[in-house]
Amino acid sequence: MPRAPFIVFEGIEGAGKTTLAHRLTDWLHARGVPVLLTREPGGSELGRQLRPVLLHQPLDAYTELFLFLADRRQHTQQVILPALTRGTWVLCDRYADSTLVYQGYGRGLDIELIRQLNTLATDGLVPDLTVLIDLPVAEALTRADAPNRFEAETLEFHQRIREGYLHEAQRAPERYLILNGLEPLETLQAQLQVSVQRWL
Ligand code: TYD
Repeated sequence: MPRAPFIVFEGIEGAGKTTLAHRLTDWLHARGVPVLLTREPGGSELGRQLRPVLLHQPLDAYTELFLFLADRRQHTQQVILPALTRGTWVLCDRYADSTLVYQGYGRGLDIELIRQLNTLATDGLVPDLTVLIDLPVAEALTRADAPNRFEAETLEFHQRIREGYLHEAQRAPERYLILNGLEPLETLQAQLQVSVQRWL
């Protein structure tokens, strides 16, 4: 049996990824589809311990990179791949693109190096669909709730993140669904449901 779909939600803080991921999970459950909703950082046992460190402790940029990658490797091996193999859809709030844009475009670490390290961390697993919620930084930051180290970054940092995501999406447009985060959530949800119909 081919593996189940792997759908990732990406975007700057306050874009509405988490809410949209929950909505799609509920909608799929209501259709009898087996779904696992998970997130990074923090989707594995190890990740749950790494998450507070990653979100709140000042870290050297490479230390931060390696911890996100460790979180991803463990999450992919222990949670995501087993679920996909047993036919469960996996919806993940942030994945490899977050490292490319935050540690690469944001912190300025080598993007091609991060690409290679991501391949190692993910075992080459690439999302079937990445839902990118795009909206202006100023608007998103007014919506962000629980503050973390990243939300405290400058507007320029978040602007680089936004542009990084759009740039990455242009590299493989067939694997991205770019949604306008200024639209009402119901509109975004409807567009997403149309997009995932291909697997139902
Ligand atoms: P989280 O509270 O999950 O933010 P959000 O609700 O916006 O998803 O915090 C995750 C933070 O970690 C977020 O600011 C982005 C950052 N991050 C990275 O810098 N690199 C990564 O690889 C990942 C997965 C997240």
